[in-house]
Amino acid sequence: MLVARSVAELRAARHEASGLVGLVPTMGYLHRGHISLVDAARAECGTVVASIFVNPTQFGPGEDFSRYPRNEEHDLELLEAAGVDVVLIPTVAEMYPEGDTARIHMDGLTDVLEGARRPGHFIGVATVVAKLFNIVQPDFAYFGRKDAQQLAVIQGMARDLLMPITVVGCPIVREPDGLACSSRNIYLSPEQRQQAASLSAGLRQAEAAFQDGVRDPEALRNSVRRRIEQESLAAIDYVSLSDASTLRELADPVEQPALLSLAVAFGPTHLLDNITLVP
Ligand code: PAJ
Repeated sequence: MLVARSVAELRAARHEASGLVGLVPTMGYLHRGHISLVDAARAECGTVVASIFVNPTQFGPGEDFSRYPRNEEHDLELLEAAGVDVVLIPTVAEMYPEGDTARIHMDGLTDVLEGARRPGHFIGVATVVAKLFNIVQPDFAYFGRKDAQQLAVIQGMARDLLMPITVVGCPIVREPDGLACSSRNIYLSPEQRQQAASLSAGLRQAEAAFQDGVRDPEALRNSVRRRIEQESLAAIDYVSLSDASTLRELADPVEQPALLSLAVAFGPTHLLDNITLVP
């Protein structure tokens, strides 16, 4: 496994790559969720590139950029064991050269849900992913459905900017109690960790109601809220039921695939989860 710490090193390796090239962008501190993306890439591509870059432009002031967890040595072991060919670990200086001002903004998609809670977040995400795409020039790029809005933003960007890249969405990997794997789960106290299982439990409760024929968006959102509100340490940021492709909040009964998504805070830690409801 080659570790490229500069754009030039990566480009040289890309030049030698055989077969289709798959890219798995990450911010490191890897867990089974990230590795499932590598597995998906491995199954489809001759060459698998993973990137580790904690991207400063997607963190707002007061967010956890400086304390975002990092463990490069362990990450490299996991990537090597998963069969990655090349790891890109670029520097902030090279990703954002002096005077850099280019940013990617998408009307409608980057300013709702997580984008409303974290202004500018998806502009930073779309911009860094566009840079990674330009460095690696992959045929396929793999993203988790855990970050459903991020996936929609990247798919929209690739489509609208005619990028010759297939953006693949991969299933959410969960802990045994249903909590979605996340690098941020380590911030939870044992009691918060236990209560965090209510996020997926709430989504499953609403999904069961949906399967019983409930189509009213507010009834479905309330079903999720009621379950999470049973937990003393959970503070709901939002529970949303939106059109799965436009992410516009639904007012009328569900007739198209809909994204039921939520963000919940346990102290300073914000956790995300979602499911797609298909009528
Ligand atoms: P990061 O949070 O490290 O996540 C990297 C990728 O792993 C994302 O596509 C995310 O959706 C996926 N992922 C995380 N947890 C998952 C889980 N439990 N199941 C399945 N996939 C999961 O997302 C980012 O980094 C950054 O925003 C990035 C795209 C790298 C741009 O900086």
